[in-house]
Amino acid sequence: MSEFLVINGPNLNRLGVREPNHYGAKTLIDLEKELRQFAKSNQCQIAFFQSNVEGILIDKIHESEELFDGVVINPGAYTHYSIAIRDAIASISIPVIEVHLSNIHAREEFRHQSVTAPVTVGQIIGLGFYGYKLAVLALKNRIGGVNK
Ligand code: DQA
Repeated sequence: MSEFLVINGPNLNRLGVREPNHYGAKTLIDLEKELRQFAKSNQCQIAFFQSNVEGILIDKIHESEELFDGVVINPGAYTHYSIAIRDAIASISIPVIEVHLSNIHAREEFRHQSVTAPVTVGQIIGLGFYGYKLAVLALKNRIGGVNK
């Protein structure tokens, strides 16, 4: 059975209390619960990781290559400027999909750029928790050999 890793970057541990107008009222634990359920009904397994620290995220991205079939990542604000996270994603051979809860193009101009998206398979934005589910489906589809 395919196993995917969902990585959430800085401040995403604050979901539920943090700017609910952008990120909604549900918590990171709620997201993980929903995705675990989703994985069950979609014949795959999902592991979760969150950190506020750039280097720890980079180590996790590196490790994921040996342990998982694909990665869903929301790099938080690192999306907009971390060349180090971009290089970590580019260094692994398993597919990575970038997700953002909010529509980054409808917000401040500094959020419009993603330095990480160009080294991912694709980016899903603005759909809240549903975006993570779509990303899992896209990874399943991808490793199943379609759209390679
Ligand atoms: C975010 C968007 C980023 O601009 C922001 O810094 C976040 C969350 C999102 O999921 O919408 O931390 O990645």
